[in-house]
Amino acid sequence: METPSQPSHDRIIIFDTTLRDGEQAPGAALNIDEKLTIARQLARLGVDVIEAGFPYSSPGDFEAVQKIAEVVGVEGGPIICGLARTTHNDIKAAADALKPAARSRIHTFIATSDIHLQYKLKKSRAEVLSIAGEMVAYAKSLTNDVEFSPEDAGRSDPEFLYEVLERAIAAGATTVNIPDTVGYTTPAEFGALIRGIKENVPNIDQAIISVHGHNDLGLAVANFLEAVKNGARQLECTINGIGERAGNAALEELVMGLHVRRQYFNPFLGRPIDSEAPLTNIDTRQIYKTSRLVSNLTGMLVQPNKAIVGANAFAHESGIHQDGVLKNRLTYEIMDAQSIGLTDNQIVLGKLSGRNAFRSRLKELGFDLADQELNKAFVRFKELADKKKEVTDWDLEAIVNDEIQQA
Ligand code: KIV
Ligand code: ZN
Repeated sequence: METPSQPSHDRIIIFDTTLRDGEQAPGAALNIDEKLTIARQLARLGVDVIEAGFPYSSPGDFEAVQKIAEVVGVEGGPIICGLARTTHNDIKAAADALKPAARSRIHTFIATSDIHLQYKLKKSRAEVLSIAGEMVAYAKSLTNDVEFSPEDAGRSDPEFLYEVLERAIAAGATTVNIPDTVGYTTPAEFGALIRGIKENVPNIDQAIISVHGHNDLGLAVANFLEAVKNGARQLECTINGIGERAGNAALEELVMGLHVRRQYFNPFLGRPIDSEAPLTNIDTRQIYKTSRLVSNLTGMLVQPNKAIVGANAFAHESGIHQDGVLKNRLTYEIMDAQSIGLTDNQIVLGKLSGRNAFRSRLKELGFDLADQELNKAFVRFKELADKKKEVTDWDLEAIVNDEIQQA
């Protein structure tokens, strides 16, 4: 059995669930090769944990988790995680799929809110309590690293939640994840929920507190930042915030929020206020590339005004703003475009652009094409450049996606 992960408490653990909860977004299905490409890029980005899928849900998901465990879950790489309901079959499938990984985690969950118990599970609180304990213990017999989630924690009775968490930790959970499954809570409420857990679950010091949240009211990132202030040390998130319904908390927003405002967050992590040490292990210069890759492969477009990675996130349109930025960028920019991997001087492609400029712009957009594909895409680009003065990133993406589909 591998050694359990011992994440340090003074850094925030980034748990990426793009390939599991993100892929649950309507229309975002990915094939195994695409999942592997994204998993490799997530490892370059520096995420601590990749939730690679839900192995029992389909043979395809099982195979994808297994492949990612083998190729990306190598020594020194991220922890590879598989989701499982609290059943023997689910947990065994997750353990089997994760076997090739150097470090693996089983993430098992059961709902705790009365509305889920009454209508979905048709079980009593006592039954849920004992299932949670038994199934965490079973998962623990298969791996040292077990995460437990009380689904719909945001709408659960806190007293019952405390009891379930205490039972899960006693049975061996090393991470307890608190999901706001339907994106219902507000930042103050979510922060208080995490504080309540810290103060009322007697064995909470034996586990990392994690948070997971959906964006139904557009509050997921704000909720997580409040959770960090109150003791959460793992954030579950997706690239571009994709996921069920309105999506999950967006990784790039959380990471840049912690990065840009580190002096604000440092004291909550017990650090000196002016510490420059990074708050996460993320290489922020990989953010833009990862965002483009996920958007291209899932087909989920990023809105132009999306924070951090939207096309307009670093664009200044009004005269007053342009004038200010030319005098000093800090007048209207709180972070620098290079910190997320954008080059300062964006190359504008046109009919005089050569193959190298074309290749390098595609790389920035997350496309690493083989020579043959690149040649074909370059011919298409030249044809278009003859008709248009400037070829935009949208045009380039359309050309490449067309070529990839035809290949
Ligand atoms: O939103 C949710 O509650 C989930 C759990 C499986 C963690 O995705
Ligand atoms: Zn979720």
